[in-house]
Amino acid sequence: MLSIIDDIKAIYRNDPAAKNIEFLLYPGFHAIAIHRVIHWLWKAGLPFFPRVLSQVSRFITGLEIHPGATIGRGFFVDHGSGVVIGETTEIGENCVMFHNVTLGGTGKHHGKRHPTIGNNVLIGTGAILLGPINVGDNVKIGANSYIFMHDLPSNTTVAGVPARIVKRDGHRVNESLPPTRIDRAELENNTYDGPEN
Ligand SMILES: CC(C)(COP(=O)(O)OP(=O)(O)OC[C@H]1O[C@@H](n2cnc3c(N)ncnc32)[C@H](O)[C@@H]1OP(=O)(O)O)[C@@H](O)C(=O)NCCC(=O)NCCS
Repeated sequence: MLSIIDDIKAIYRNDPAAKNIEFLLYPGFHAIAIHRVIHWLWKAGLPFFPRVLSQVSRFITGLEIHPGATIGRGFFVDHGSGVVIGETTEIGENCVMFHNVTLGGTGKHHGKRHPTIGNNVLIGTGAILLGPINVGDNVKIGANSYIFMHDLPSNTTVAGVPARIVKRDGHRVNESLPPTRIDRAELENNTYDGPEN
C-alpha cells in the first residue's frame, strides 16, 4: 500500500504537467495500483484469477502487466497505452517509462526470460527490450531503441536500432553493448523461482 504513495509522488516528480489531484487521471497509475494488488494475489498462489484481473486492467488502462512482474517503488508510466511487461520482469525503484514500451521475451527461452531493470532507469517511448537482459542503475534508454539479448551498464544512455551506448558517466561515447550472459540451465529447465528478495 505504501508503494502506491511512492507511485503518486513519482508522478509529480517526473511530470511537470501534473497539478493538484490529477494523479487520479493517469492510466499508468491506475495500472500500477491495480498491479500491486494483483501481484500480491499472484504471490499468494491464487490460480487463474490474477490473470483475469490483469486482463480486465489491460482492457481499462491499455497497459498489459503480467501478474508475476516485480515492480519497485516510485514507478511512473506516462501515457501508458501499449506498454507490455512480461511475467519474469523485475524493475527496481524510481523507474520511469513512456507508452509503447515492451519488456518482453525472445520466444526462445523458458524460466527467467524477461528483462531485469535497475534503479532510476528511464525508458523512452517505443523502446523494445527482449530477453533476460540486465539493465544497470541510472540508465536512460532513448525513444524507439531496440535491445535484444544485450546488457546495459549502469550510468549510461543508450539509443538506436540496434541500441549502442551514446553516453557514459555524462560523456559522449559510441560503444557497443555487452551480450547478455545467460544461465542455460535456468533458461532451458524453467528453474527460475522469482526474484531473490
Ligand atoms: C535518451 C534521452 C533520455 C536523452 O538522454 P541524455 O543522456 O540526455 O542524452 P542526450 O540528449 O545528450 O543525447 C546523447 C546523444 O544520443 C542521441 N539520442 C538521444 N536520444 C536518441 C534516440 N531516441 N534515438 C537516437 N539517438 C538519440 C542524441 O541526438 C545525442 O547525439 P548527438 O550528440 O550526436 O546529438 C532522450 O533523448 C529520450 O529519448 N527520451 C525519451 C523521452 C520520451 O520517450 N518522451 C515521450 C514523451 S510523450
